[in-house]
Amino acid sequence: MSENPIFFLAFVALFLSAASQHDEFVYTGFGGGGAANGGRSNISLTGVAEIENNGILRLTNDTSRLIGHAFYPSALQFRNATTGDAFSFSAAFAFAIVPEYPTLGGHGLAFVISPTKELKGALPSQYLGLMNAADVGNFSNHLFAVEFDTVQDFEFGDINDNHIGIDINSLVSNASVAAAYYGGDGANVSLNLKSGGTVQAWVDYDGVAKVINVTVAPFSSKPAVPILSFHPVDLSPILHDRMFVGFSASTGLLASSHYLLGWSFKMNGVAQSLDLASLPSLPHPKKKATALIIAVSATAVIILIAAVIGAAYLFYKIKNADVIEPWELEIGPHRFSYKELKRATKGFRDRELLGFGGFGKVYKGTLPGSRTEVAVKRVSHESRQGIREFVAEIASIGRLRHRNLVQLLGWCRRRADLLLVYDYMPNGSLDNFLFFDESKADQPVLSWAERFRILRGVASALLYLHEEWEHVVIHRDVKASNVLLDADLNGRLGDFGLAKLYEHGANPSTTRVVGTLGYLAPELTRTGKATTSCDVFAFGALVLEVVCGRRPIESKAPPEELVLVEWVWERWSSGRWADVVDPRLEGVYDNEEVAVAIKVGLWCSHPAAAARPTMREVVRYLDGGDAAEVPDVPSPPASDGGHEGKSDHGGFEDFVHSYPSSSFGKGSIASAIALGREEAGLVGPDGPVSSFAYSSLSSLSRGSV
Ligand SMILES: Nc1ncnc2c1ncn2[C@@H]1O[C@H](COP(=O)(O)OP(=O)(O)OP(=O)(O)O)[C@@H](O)[C@H]1O
Ligand SMILES: *[C@@H]1O[C@H](CO)[C@@H](O)[C@H](O)[C@H]1NC(C)=O
Ligand SMILES: *[C@@H]1O[C@H](CO)[C@@H](O)[C@H](O)[C@H]1NC(C)=O
Ligand SMILES: *[C@@H]1O[C@H](CO)[C@@H](O)[C@H](O)[C@H]1NC(C)=O
Ligand SMILES: *[C@@H]1O[C@H](CO)[C@@H](O)[C@H](O)[C@H]1NC(C)=O
Ligand SMILES: *[C@@H]1O[C@H](CO)[C@@H](O)[C@H](O)[C@H]1NC(C)=O
Ligand SMILES: *[C@@H]1O[C@H](CO)[C@@H](O)[C@H](O)[C@H]1NC(C)=O
Ligand SMILES: *[C@@H]1O[C@H](CO)[C@@H](O)[C@H](O)[C@H]1NC(C)=O
Ligand SMILES: *[C@@H]1O[C@H](CO)[C@@H](O)[C@H](O)[C@H]1NC(C)=O
Repeated sequence: MSENPIFFLAFVALFLSAASQHDEFVYTGFGGGGAANGGRSNISLTGVAEIENNGILRLTNDTSRLIGHAFYPSALQFRNATTGDAFSFSAAFAFAIVPEYPTLGGHGLAFVISPTKELKGALPSQYLGLMNAADVGNFSNHLFAVEFDTVQDFEFGDINDNHIGIDINSLVSNASVAAAYYGGDGANVSLNLKSGGTVQAWVDYDGVAKVINVTVAPFSSKPAVPILSFHPVDLSPILHDRMFVGFSASTGLLASSHYLLGWSFKMNGVAQSLDLASLPSLPHPKKKATALIIAVSATAVIILIAAVIGAAYLFYKIKNADVIEPWELEIGPHRFSYKELKRATKGFRDRELLGFGGFGKVYKGTLPGSRTEVAVKRVSHESRQGIREFVAEIASIGRLRHRNLVQLLGWCRRRADLLLVYDYMPNGSLDNFLFFDESKADQPVLSWAERFRILRGVASALLYLHEEWEHVVIHRDVKASNVLLDADLNGRLGDFGLAKLYEHGANPSTTRVVGTLGYLAPELTRTGKATTSCDVFAFGALVLEVVCGRRPIESKAPPEELVLVEWVWERWSSGRWADVVDPRLEGVYDNEEVAVAIKVGLWCSHPAAAARPTMREVVRYLDGGDAAEVPDVPSPPASDGGHEGKSDHGGFEDFVHSYPSSSFGKGSIASAIALGREEAGLVGPDGPVSSFAYSSLSSLSRGSV
């Protein structure tokens, strides 16, 4: 017995005429049929189709790739058995498509007339549970369908994702139209099939006029004009005499629940109209909606969090990215990526540290691809402006090539850091060999031949920078620690051009003087303008260092030997020059070459810039190796009367002024250099010397006289 009043309304009306061409039935909901039928109508279901408790027929739920079929249990006579002409028929039904996600539904349902109730081999998704890829379009299907399709399948030329189509043996519709209906005023009102609301549909075939009309509307009363009228179409060859009629629905990746609420059918007549109010109501999608809202908001929150994390990561990446600016890209191929250099130096770890100078730390590295050994100098610099100009200059420096220059291979910029990549020099810098260091056991001693070759190499590198390159390059920081030795102990000048980086001070009116004390030409501290003869002066100091194995200023030495150049000058003029030659050579040297070196060294060290030779002359005399050919060195003006003659300007007095610090000699070179840089780089054209440097200067001057 039925308790639900709907079951009284839900009944099956079968009017079976003798010839069965008047077959007619009505399902007002599918819950009728009484206890004998288990509380449900007599209808054949295959696939996942089910009749729910309230009498609604659910062809599919919203799980993907499902098929549901519902057929009238017995076959109907669709043709006149004698003539083979298809009968007219009429169907009216109410359905609802409730998509899993609003606006994203799949795939739709179809009213179908088929030779079987099972539709064996049919596929879900775009095939609507009607056929499969192999039999689409095969005339032996004998299949007629009206599709209510909610997915646009380009494979079948669908017009949109909300259309009605007439399919004959195929899923390529013979006629289709966007889902709509003509309202009372004849206007075309579009209808959303997957709105989740109830849709009424009518399929009418006129077997005489050979017309198929399809009509849809969201309400019970049938609009006067069908939305789709297809003619002429003769279903006689399509249909067998006896056919099953019913519905098929399918889901794909996107899914909808497909419901059938009621259905009436009449052969050779007009199907009884359905009263939507008397049909079972759709399940309330409330819970689903709440779940959906929760799901959507949760997804939104997750996406938001992901976006924030992503943005933070991106920000981090950008902030730490190598700073690449458009002007740098124009410079050429010498740019390394920071990652590459980090890998090459094993993350700039201390074990790879080769040393450090005034510009920063130098690491040993091996380039990942080529296994080339390199030295990576990490220069920190705050001034973007300076670094920009400098990198622009690197472009030209990078093209400098000489066998006595340490080749600059490339660079990389990262935030305030500038990384310079040089050829690796396995034997380190010259100062490590030159100056006696009691802390180093069995320190190797360079022979005179090696020393002279190194000097000649450095001289030719300087000549190249001054005269042989397309424009004049002033090194500004010639000194023993910037002369590096390759595997064959050739002297190679390093750090060229780097000093310029430090001349770009924040205040353009105070050009900083850069260089290392002991190598600074006296005029540099007065004018602040670097010239090639400043390099010549520094080279002179280097030559004397190499000959004597002593720093330009040796605080531990007796007072008369304190300033190397004064001492050498004094011994040279008195003919006792052998006294100054490095005792570690143990007298093994070429007299002529040592004499040339001393003469050139003194000449280059002349306090007056104009009196110094050019690098071309220096190279010529060093290569000649004949002391007689070197012109006599002009005497320094102030030293004529001996060291007692004190004057405020010129002479060795000025020379001494460029040796302010007593921290040379003993202890750390690095700190002395760092100190020196601090104290030396401060003089504008007429600017004051810093108080520290000044007092050091005066004390030294006193000490030396
Ligand atoms: N290309 C190189 N190959 C091998 N070792 C190097 C190379 N360049 C530098 N070094 C080592 O790193 C040390 C520091 O070099 P750096 O040039 O920074 O300092 P510096 O020459 O003492 O001072 P400055 O910064 O005034 O030039 C050098 O003394 C040397 O031992
Ligand atoms: C939908 O139907 C299929 C087959 O009957 C079943 O496995 C699945 O659990 C159902 N899904 C839902 C959401 O009810
Ligand atoms: C359902 O209908 C078919 C065909 O009309 C009939 O053969 C069958 O017995 C019916 N089943 C029930 C349970 O009424
Ligand atoms: C079939 O067609 C013939 C010839 O037109 C007609 O006599 C007969 O009544 C038709 N049968 C039915 C069932 O309509
Ligand atoms: C159509 O289907 C029939 C029966 O399944 C088959 O024998 C025939 O080869 C098919 N034709 C085409 C063109 O696929
Ligand atoms: C319907 O279309 C199929 C191909 O999709 C075609 O073979 C058939 O002839 C068409 N039928 C009509 C009546 O237009
Ligand atoms: C109804 O209107 C829609 C859009 O305005 C259009 O795509 C469709 O073809 C129209 N249908 C008919 C039958 O004119
Ligand atoms: C089909 O629609 C056309 C046009 O509105 C109409 O003239 C015809 O009578 C209809 N036929 C049926 C069987 O509904
Ligand atoms: C210079 O380096 C080479 C190669 O690393 C090495 O064989 C040689 O002993 C080094 N010379 C000195 C004097 O250290």
